[in-house]
Amino acid sequence: MSFDRSIKIAPSILAADFANFGAECAAIEAEGADWVHVDVMDGHFVPNITFGPATCAAIRPHIKGVMDVHLMISPVDSYIDAFADAGADVITAHVEAGPHIHRTLQAIRGAGAKAGVALNPGTPAESVEHLLDMTDLICVMTVNPGFGGQKFIDMTTKIEKLRQMIGDRPIHIEIDGGVDPKTAPIVAAAGADVLVAGSAVFRGGSVQNPAPYGENIRAIRAAAQSVL
Ligand code: DX5
Ligand code: ZN
Repeated sequence: MSFDRSIKIAPSILAADFANFGAECAAIEAEGADWVHVDVMDGHFVPNITFGPATCAAIRPHIKGVMDVHLMISPVDSYIDAFADAGADVITAHVEAGPHIHRTLQAIRGAGAKAGVALNPGTPAESVEHLLDMTDLICVMTVNPGFGGQKFIDMTTKIEKLRQMIGDRPIHIEIDGGVDPKTAPIVAAAGADVLVAGSAVFRGGSVQNPAPYGENIRAIRAAAQSVL
């Protein structure tokens, strides 16, 4: 996985057909997705349940590019090896998920994956200040995690602050929640490079009719690039 700051669109399969993940992943990649974002929820850290490492492993052969696994689970550490073994390229844990995020990030890199740290809307940029040299990605949540299709919460000042804190370090800024062609320019201008989008990518399309996925991905990318 090479590093650059170009805009990357990462469709969240939370908005895909859950009975058809393999074909959905192949369809979004064929339609121009850069990464595939995989939302793992435990019904404890967030009020919703999705799936675990076995599903990630089953999806993996259907993804050619980056599998970006967003863990909305607590505790995290006991499951890291399982998600790494499932083939995750990036494993992101929440700073709010436990008292030892530093140890968690060490464990993710130790398992051979890129280490991501996610911040809920109420969590300040400074919470990752001492983690920057052990982090490959910072995920700024622009909704409270748990569900797709929620309203975008503006986190511009947090994104700008993080971009400044990061400096020249090879750390992605990922935005997750409510990203669409209207909100993409706001986060891109603030310094984000990975844009997660669930409903705004999958709306209007299906495995049988994947062309709308491509139109949606291109619209989000063009909107983000228009302000750079
Ligand atoms: C929210 C998830 C997001 C979500 C994004 O808890 O982490 O990845 O699926 O969905 P949209 O783009 O519909 O807000
Ligand atoms: Zn997510």
